[in-house]
Amino acid sequence: MTSIRYESLSERWVEGAAVCERTAFPTANPADLLGVAEFRAYAGLFPEGVFVALDDGRVVGVGAGIFVDFDFDHIQRTIWEVTGENQCGNHDPDGAWYYGTDITVLPEYRRRGIGHRLYELRKGLVIRHNRRGIVAGGHLPGFAEHKAEMSAEEYVANVVAGELNDTTLSFQLRNGFEVRGVIDYYLEDPAIDHKAALIVWENPHFSE
Ligand SMILES: CC(C)(COP(=O)(O)OP(=O)(O)OC[C@H]1O[C@@H](n2cnc3c(N)ncnc32)[C@H](O)[C@@H]1OP(=O)(O)O)[C@@H](O)C(=O)NCCC(=O)NCCS
Repeated sequence: MTSIRYESLSERWVEGAAVCERTAFPTANPADLLGVAEFRAYAGLFPEGVFVALDDGRVVGVGAGIFVDFDFDHIQRTIWEVTGENQCGNHDPDGAWYYGTDITVLPEYRRRGIGHRLYELRKGLVIRHNRRGIVAGGHLPGFAEHKAEMSAEEYVANVVAGELNDTTLSFQLRNGFEVRGVIDYYLEDPAIDHKAALIVWENPHFSE
């Protein structure tokens, strides 16, 4: 197997990034995911905020985001309300936080460190630009299996305590994120009752 390369988004990777995204969230409404139009908008507005993982010219992973002034007193917002048109229209070059709109790796490329590397690249961007950290609405794929017996809050508390494993949230916790709450309706995904965990990584190098 060839080694994986990483680049910032450019027009040539837009289609592949959209394919990668669609395969990652099989139960979500495709209209709420990043597609060709959204990645094209990112490529024009803030390509530096999107990293692609490439295997021999194929996009196999994506980590996307924008800078915003995130309001921690009002966390009950959909991804669209936070991010705006094309999930990047609210990008503010002076925003205090990097808001991670999505991170995905193709199923056959998972569990070999690509997601971790995408987080390292995002953290590097945040450190270089002296921003406060990374915020995101974390997907909770494992909640689908447990929602009949517990609330999303209980599920997240169990994952944080290490009692349950979630392929996404556990990975994010191990990448230095902490949970700051549960978002009741983040994007349309009936399998998990549209829930997400508000997750935060604080930049230890940030200076006022
Ligand atoms: C979440 C996601 C991006 C992680 O991507 P990934 O490339 O598999 O991430 P990594 O390989 O860095 O880490 C995943 C796990 O594999 C392990 N791993 C990494 N390299 C490994 C290797 N060579 N051998 C065995 N395990 C390995 C990591 O330790 C990690 O384990 P953990 O979950 O117990 O912490 C991916 O699962 C995904 O696309 N999920 C669906 C979309 C999604 O939910 N995205 C998040 C939206 S908020």
